[in-house]
Amino acid sequence: MVNLAQVIKPALLLSAVVFASANAAVTLDVSVDSSKAYPISKQLVGIFFEDINYAADGGLYAELVQNRSFDYTPMDRAEWTPLTAWSLVAPKQRKSALHWDMSDPLNANNPTYAMLLVGDGEGYAGIENRGFDGIALQQGEPYQFSVFARQLSNTPGPLLVQLLDNHTVVASAETPVISQGWQQYQLTLTPNKTVSNGSLRVMSAHAGYIGLDMVSLFPTHTFNNRSNGLRKDLAEALKAMQPRFIRFPGGCLVHGDGIDNMYQWKHTIGPVAQRKAQRNIWSYHQTNGLGYYEYFQLAEDLGAIPLPILPAAVTCQNSGARINGFNGKGQVCVLLDNMPAFIQDIMDLIEWANGPATSMWGKLRADAGHPEPFNLQYIGIGNEDVISEDFNVRFNMIYQALKRQHPEITVVGTAGPFPEGEDYEQGWKLADKLQVPLIDEHMYRPPQWFWDNLHRYDSYDRKKSAVYVGEWAAHVEDRSSNVEAALAEAAYLTSLERNGDIVKFSSYAPLFANVNNTMWRPDLIYFDNQSVTLTPSYYVQALFGQHAISEFLPYKMAKPEGRLAISVGKNTDNMVVKLVNGEAKTVSLKLSVAAVSDSKLATVTQLQGDNALALSFKRSVSQQQINPTEQLIELPPLSVTNIEWSLK
Ligand code: AHR
Repeated sequence: MVNLAQVIKPALLLSAVVFASANAAVTLDVSVDSSKAYPISKQLVGIFFEDINYAADGGLYAELVQNRSFDYTPMDRAEWTPLTAWSLVAPKQRKSALHWDMSDPLNANNPTYAMLLVGDGEGYAGIENRGFDGIALQQGEPYQFSVFARQLSNTPGPLLVQLLDNHTVVASAETPVISQGWQQYQLTLTPNKTVSNGSLRVMSAHAGYIGLDMVSLFPTHTFNNRSNGLRKDLAEALKAMQPRFIRFPGGCLVHGDGIDNMYQWKHTIGPVAQRKAQRNIWSYHQTNGLGYYEYFQLAEDLGAIPLPILPAAVTCQNSGARINGFNGKGQVCVLLDNMPAFIQDIMDLIEWANGPATSMWGKLRADAGHPEPFNLQYIGIGNEDVISEDFNVRFNMIYQALKRQHPEITVVGTAGPFPEGEDYEQGWKLADKLQVPLIDEHMYRPPQWFWDNLHRYDSYDRKKSAVYVGEWAAHVEDRSSNVEAALAEAAYLTSLERNGDIVKFSSYAPLFANVNNTMWRPDLIYFDNQSVTLTPSYYVQALFGQHAISEFLPYKMAKPEGRLAISVGKNTDNMVVKLVNGEAKTVSLKLSVAAVSDSKLATVTQLQGDNALALSFKRSVSQQQINPTEQLIELPPLSVTNIEWSLK
């Protein structure tokens, strides 16, 4: 019997871990010297959120109405107009019409609105929206409807608002008589039926012109019941991962497709009807309803550190490519004359996030409902940019200003788009020169690359910048989210844990994809308007988030033959061993943990794939009496196993 208390004593051995395959024995001598335990990042595994694949509008952002403010334009997508996603519903005899207008708009940031003409006659005429591939509604659940409207005729009347399942009305309510000037009207609608492909209608029986804008429908029960909130099922999938930080808002979305397309945080705060929408770099429209306030609130609700990434005053090097093919304009820079204003925007962000409620920008945060600071500690400058001279100059200006004015903020730099090559070298050169505390490396590579690079960070100089593996994923040939990719990612995560003294953060990318609007694969979580599919990669990230360690226990072992990886560590409560068997055969493990009592039950969490191409894992959690000196533990083919003993 081994005394558990010994686990935390120095120089104890986790010895002779023996693997034996079903055919031929594979023996790994793993000896762990806990006297050499070293602390690792407590924030190693987080999430990367970018509005790509309809991740925000039509995704995490719970708004059910598409193009609610009639601001879609051909700039977003060639075939789009302000009336995209809307249609006129009217009895033939009423001779009604639907147009869009820009005169006397709701406000300057919200320039376009719908102009409905209800002709003379009987019955209701109005507009209909089918949301993002149909509006999904739950029976008995209250929904919050809101519209800004004005009646431009002498016969004002109320608006009739309906939720429908095809032609069947499942909820209905009426606004008061609408006024001549813009005014907001709000209603609660509770469907009497669950609907997967529903629609919303806003109608009037009163002849004349009616201006309509910001037509909105939200479930009352969003994640944490926030107003202007997030889809509960999707946000709960994030919460279950126990992410330690959240990076936002991207990605390429940050540096943008041209200067006027750079992400501007100031456009994304304040009342939603006053936020400035913009073209999304991934060829659609972003309302910015999910903006900085909501991102910081989400971080808080997840217990995660907020990690905003801001452009380094240069655009995406692929700017123009989406419009002009590959003859785009490339990296474009903010003029040096405009840099003071650009830098001031970053300082304002810090005041908005951390300043007192009495400060100019802190007041806006407080007015939005958050008087306490958000505790912003990190800011990323740049997203996988080409490290040109223009970039260097601008990054340096921003970096020096931040160091001078906000030494409490840790800056994250960028090492270009790839894990090697010219931009990687130049990015690191700049980081060395400026002593940037953290540098963001990106890697989208085939599974074998990750297996081959399990020792990438072992040789990184510990005196240089720490690393943020900010975007990464194993890409198989058909870009599916399969077991082979997930196992390579699990193996790589064991190596990030081992190097967690220098690798501070890591985040798989991208996070979300709406199955009907996917422009990038693979992604961690797929969804449609009512269901969520969690990929094998998701379960791997979640396993490492849920079983995070804060100390790594170094071990010696001969290089394993084949796809096998191991991580040993502990956190305050548990000793944790993670084992990845990427081989298509069973491997038996004899775990001799001298430091762990064999009278203790271990919790064994296992993910297992039927084959490398499978798109899901079998998952199990069991309590097992593991005799550390004698018992063979079977690691099934293509599996990730987490064994955890309580240290209490
Ligand atoms: O994660 C998808 C994209 O990959 C990001 O927007 C970009 O930074 C990277 O190229």
